[in-house]
Amino acid sequence: MNKTCYKLLIVNELRRMCMHSRIMQMKQYPQHGKVTVYQHCIAVALMSCWIAWKFHLKVDYEALIRGALLHDYFLYDWHEHSAEHRLHGFHHPRKALVNASEDFKLTPIETNIILRHMFPLTPIPPVYLESWIVCVADKFCALRETLHLGDGALLELYWSNGL
Ligand SMILES: [Fe+2]
Ligand SMILES: [Fe+2]
Repeated sequence: MNKTCYKLLIVNELRRMCMHSRIMQMKQYPQHGKVTVYQHCIAVALMSCWIAWKFHLKVDYEALIRGALLHDYFLYDWHEHSAEHRLHGFHHPRKALVNASEDFKLTPIETNIILRHMFPLTPIPPVYLESWIVCVADKFCALRETLHLGDGALLELYWSNGL
């Protein structure tokens, strides 16, 4: 595994997953700052792969990427005031899992990545190494995006060449 290889894996996985799903809907919804949920999920997939590659971790890259791309598949704008969006931080992993299960056949690792990525806000910890990696990568990406250090626009530009 190397950087080029995992970037290619992400592009290929995203292409495949786009075909029969609502993944492109994530482009409509803002996440942190100017970064959309779609850009955020790609950023988390990239950072998750980088962590696994950097520390020579033995992971299932396919599950890692798919779980990262779907971890925030809740498909609404959580900034809008609505009774349904209350306590978004606590409830959105379950909503993301319900949506992802409707569109994909998920493996146990992918399911755990989506459901446990908000630990420790949600109290049950991840089970798999892949879930821990996405949990950590998500926090780094969220912080970077909130502080406007995110490169969402660049990412979009970069990836739109391949998609
Ligand atoms: Fe999330
Ligand atoms: Fe996230």
